[in-house]
Amino acid sequence: MAIQTRNVGAFPANPIGLGCMSLSFGYGPASSSQHIKSVIELAVDLGVNFLDTAAVYGDGHNETELGKAIAPYRSQVAICTKGGMTATYNEKGRQRKIDSRPEVIRSNCEDSLKRLGVDVIDLYYLHRWDKVTPIEDVAGAMADLITAGKIKGYGLSEVSATTLRQAHNTHPVTAIQSEYSLWTRNPEIAVLPSCEELDITLVAFSPFGRGFLAYGSPDPSEFEEKDLRRVMPRFQAPYYEKNLLLRNQLKDLTEAAGLTNAQLLLAWVLQQSPSVVTIPGTTRLEHLSENMKTQSLNVSNQVLEEASRLINQHTVAGERYDSVATGQVGTERFQDQL
Ligand SMILES: NC(=O)c1ccc[n+]([C@@H]2O[C@H](COP(=O)([O-])OP(=O)(O)OC[C@H]3O[C@@H](n4cnc5c(N)ncnc54)[C@H](OP(=O)(O)O)[C@@H]3O)[C@@H](O)[C@H]2O)c1
Repeated sequence: MAIQTRNVGAFPANPIGLGCMSLSFGYGPASSSQHIKSVIELAVDLGVNFLDTAAVYGDGHNETELGKAIAPYRSQVAICTKGGMTATYNEKGRQRKIDSRPEVIRSNCEDSLKRLGVDVIDLYYLHRWDKVTPIEDVAGAMADLITAGKIKGYGLSEVSATTLRQAHNTHPVTAIQSEYSLWTRNPEIAVLPSCEELDITLVAFSPFGRGFLAYGSPDPSEFEEKDLRRVMPRFQAPYYEKNLLLRNQLKDLTEAAGLTNAQLLLAWVLQQSPSVVTIPGTTRLEHLSENMKTQSLNVSNQVLEEASRLINQHTVAGERYDSVATGQVGTERFQDQL
């Protein structure tokens, strides 16, 4: 597919961006500063100009390291980060907190600006809505940050279409970030149609199903203690074995088409709508090159449709998140579901 830029607000983004979370946190140990610089350097060289981070990724480590690494390329890339979710330490250890109050958004944004070492954040998201603060107040706080020149646009993450519309009515939303991939189709129900109608970008996160569908996750028995995937049902018995079969069938399909699973997954998510851009994560230079090669590949509609019939919400086994935790706000379990 010949990939054209897609506007995120006024910014012409390469629709394949880079999710930086796993360079600090989530699926393994944090990468060294030198390695993060190498990843960012190659990403920019390959045309990536849309970088995703968050205050909570490594408790500031990801923003700090990204800030250093992008300094030579600042004018070429959009930096997108998130607030409203932070970690504190007390006698119980590490506690993460979701808080969407305007004063928290303002102070989180100041902290992110400092860690990133930039004057302005291109896209600033509320990482999770606390469902207590009126979403209109969140939108108002974001509008104030835009007026103050601290951020260029704002977004929300993992909210419903109704909430998205309420925020948009208060101040136009630039983007919503939601999990979207062959095996997670939730945005198709209402969020994606709303994005198309309102000219909001859908930033599809975890396009590889947290690495699994691209052969980028270890056997669950080898997950590290803090690996976010440990509590996700799709990585647990009896679902995991069923999902392995789907992944292997996908590989048969992609190999016959001269692709890798990762390339098909990126081509598929971008083909769903011109309103979609995606932010695959990687810590490996060879994976980054493989992923960016998708830009120059021609993937037929027939192959994409076959993949979609093979892996979808009806064929995947297990919920995306632990059902006990789903919907809880302000608890460690919920916050582990990043
Ligand atoms: N808004 C939110 O709440 C939220 C939640 C989750 C994630 N995100 C954002 O979305 C980004 C991406 O999501 P994600 O990292 O969760 O999941 P993902 O992009 O679906 O998968 C990342 C995993 O895929 C592996 N991978 C990458 N390229 C590969 C390739 N070509 N072949 C095989 N494996 C490959 C990576 O392993 P290697 O490191 O070994 O390449 C990594 O562990 C994050 O970095 C973050 O910025 C946002």
